[in-house]
Amino acid sequence: MGLLEGKVAVVTGAGGGLGRAHALAMAGEGARIVVNDLGSSRDGTGASSAMADSVVDEIRKNGGQAVANYGSVADRAGAESMLRTALDAFGRVDIWVNNAGILRDRTLLKMEDAEFDVVMAVHARGTYLCTQVFAKYLREAGHGGRIINTSSYAGLIGNFGQSNYGMAKAGIAGFTRVCALELARMGVTVNAIAPLAHTRMTEDIAAVPQTILPEHIAPFVVFLASDLAASVNGRIFGVHGPQIFEYRMLMTDGVTKNEGIWTPAEIAHNLKQIEQLPHERPVAQETNSGPGPRERIRSLFFAMPTAFKAEKAGDWASTLHFEVKDGGDYSLVIGAGRCVAHDGKVGTANGTVKFDSAETLLSMASGALKPEAAFMAGKIGADNMGELMKFSQFFSFKKAAEIAADTAKSPALDPTPAELVARVFDNMQLAYVPERAGGWQAKILFQITGTGDWTVSVADGVVRSEKGVTPGSTLTVTFDSADTLLGMVAGKVKPESAFMAGKMKADNMAELMKFGQAFDLKRGAEAAKETQPQMVAAPQKKSGLNSAAVGKFYKGAAHFVKPEEFEAYALATDDPNPRYLSANAVQVAPPMFSVRPVMDAVGRCVTDPDVNADLLRLVHGEQDMVFHRLLKPWDLVYPVATFDAIEEKSSGQLMRVRQRLWVDGELVTEIVSGYFIRGSSKGDGAKKPSPTTEWAPQERSLVFSHTRTVSDDQPIRYAKVSLDNNPIHTDPKVARAAGHPNIILHGLCTMAFAATAIIDRYLNSDPTRLHRIKGRFSRIVLPGDVLTTVAWIESKPGLQSRFYRLVLSFL
Ligand code: NAI
Repeated sequence: MGLLEGKVAVVTGAGGGLGRAHALAMAGEGARIVVNDLGSSRDGTGASSAMADSVVDEIRKNGGQAVANYGSVADRAGAESMLRTALDAFGRVDIWVNNAGILRDRTLLKMEDAEFDVVMAVHARGTYLCTQVFAKYLREAGHGGRIINTSSYAGLIGNFGQSNYGMAKAGIAGFTRVCALELARMGVTVNAIAPLAHTRMTEDIAAVPQTILPEHIAPFVVFLASDLAASVNGRIFGVHGPQIFEYRMLMTDGVTKNEGIWTPAEIAHNLKQIEQLPHERPVAQETNSGPGPRERIRSLFFAMPTAFKAEKAGDWASTLHFEVKDGGDYSLVIGAGRCVAHDGKVGTANGTVKFDSAETLLSMASGALKPEAAFMAGKIGADNMGELMKFSQFFSFKKAAEIAADTAKSPALDPTPAELVARVFDNMQLAYVPERAGGWQAKILFQITGTGDWTVSVADGVVRSEKGVTPGSTLTVTFDSADTLLGMVAGKVKPESAFMAGKMKADNMAELMKFGQAFDLKRGAEAAKETQPQMVAAPQKKSGLNSAAVGKFYKGAAHFVKPEEFEAYALATDDPNPRYLSANAVQVAPPMFSVRPVMDAVGRCVTDPDVNADLLRLVHGEQDMVFHRLLKPWDLVYPVATFDAIEEKSSGQLMRVRQRLWVDGELVTEIVSGYFIRGSSKGDGAKKPSPTTEWAPQERSLVFSHTRTVSDDQPIRYAKVSLDNNPIHTDPKVARAAGHPNIILHGLCTMAFAATAIIDRYLNSDPTRLHRIKGRFSRIVLPGDVLTTVAWIESKPGLQSRFYRLVLSFL
């Protein structure tokens, strides 16, 4: 028996898209359906009975029962006709799905009243009319029912260019909550979904992948309509294809002024507390008497071991150094499933991470600054990207910040003897002196009266400390108290005298002497800098790009492009074209400038841990750009990137990232970037042959050849204007660590040189005539290199358009 056996459902706008899927799914569960659809176009114009009829046919073909209704939800007569159709055909109605909808997207400044009104009429007024007609019927029928409304991300979170639609959809969410309260006593539940699926409504929205279908959404509507959801009322659920979540309206605790009335200045001062949810405790509140940035940074690092996700980190072993400008140096020593924090730089680093200020780190810890954004903006530098990524994956900054905040609030307590003893064992790795140990293997049980047992094992140069007794010890050392051990560690008690006085006992003297040789407890406890912890190399967990992440999309922040940015970009690429200067009345952006506004979205994609791209091995291999129009000053751009594909190559993997730049609903630039990950291949992506045979032209004639020299500061200048602050372009040390002789020039800058040459030499200096530029970056370019752009016109019989091959070669 189906979940909806015996029930009757009205689905508005069920002639296509989501409504059709809801109707088919409910019929599949035994419900008899009224398929309502006005049969209009996407913008609400026109009407036809064909859409509703075809879905009725489909349901009947599947063995279900359905009738059509062609009324409009936007008028009362239409809504009443739907109820009548249902009662005439089936004698009752139990479920009503308000789904019909239209779009009239326009930015606020360009919106016509009619466009606003018609969207409100179909969505807001339509939902109200249908719900009221149904509720009045239910009051008489007395058998309870289900109402399922359709809201949208656009209204609940916001979407550019949809103020009319967003207002209506947010209104539907509010309407749902109120009706849920009012109708509950009649046994009626009212809920809403905010779906995301590929339909005619979303077919031109890049952010909605074609793989997300209405069929993904329909089961959730069946669930809400069924007895399974009897206790679900007044709720708004997001259903983004396979992902289901809840939109919740939350209230913070806020702040209350007990005497007098708030002043605006006081409100501004308290804004942080007003916004904060109970669990969002900041690192520490900025007060005059509170801890300064240095103390806050230090407590953050010392909270890191508790914020270490040991199970996730597996066998990862590493020593990381951190340099925080005006915040001090710290080390995290990770190995054997635990992490120990130290002041200063301890041991040999597998990676060093530099923060440009204490503020950067504190903002990251509070969640205000995203690590990727900080990295792209050059606020964080790292000489080992792989280790940095692991660090960000295996430590919860949020948790560390919470613990640090607690520490800051509670008065400092002296550590207990048990804590001090635990520290000694935590530092055992650092106390180990391998050259003195000479391959010694052992398992030592320490019994410390009053503070418990510890087992320290030494095998293949790796030291592991564990609380408690583990079987198979080669030596047992007993201390009469924590004080004896701590006194020895502090250098105040000599081991021989402790032994002679019976304060320390051992069951194997030879082993005890070896222990004394192999470990320098005092140095370990002080985290002595010359002691170098030996760590096992972490086995590669899962290398290579993650094919499951293909299709993910990333929104960059919408922002205005400024005239001075165009000018700066042109100057940094040594392009003298006056069209790019702010003094020009018809100023436009250099075509290649588009890479700047999409940078944020691309950065989110390539640094997404889910994508699993090894950034240190990443090289920009290909770039294909189509310019529908050039950007103008103060365009409000809306960048989106999609992780499009993985291609297996013989020496690594190629990840394709598609980027689109929208301005006011208009697609302005399309880009596909190919990033090559050297040596990363695990057969996870689909194996594709690399593009084969080059097209051999039959005729070719030289158009121009243009030569220029890369200036010494070119990469640094280009980094600034493009926002691509990857340190291999700006920091010689990092560039050398990545295997380059010096800082290297951005591939996109060489492409900008090519674009400039084409525009100046072939397009009469008119940048608006450049429609597309595509390039492959085959080798690195260094400051001082001489680049030549050579343009040929190549043709072969039968080919209409002109074909340009631009060759950048080193002379
Ligand atoms: P769609 O355009 O395929 O379906 C809408 C249907 O409503 C059409 O068949 C249309 O003829 C009908 N309709 C329009 N005006 C009507 C009226 N006055 N009376 C009766 N029927 C009318 O679009 P889709 O995507 O299936 O949208 C369904 C609902 O889901 C809409 O409310 C839409 O706003 C909402 N939605 C869809 C999203 C998506 O990703 N597809 C995202 C968020 C919300």
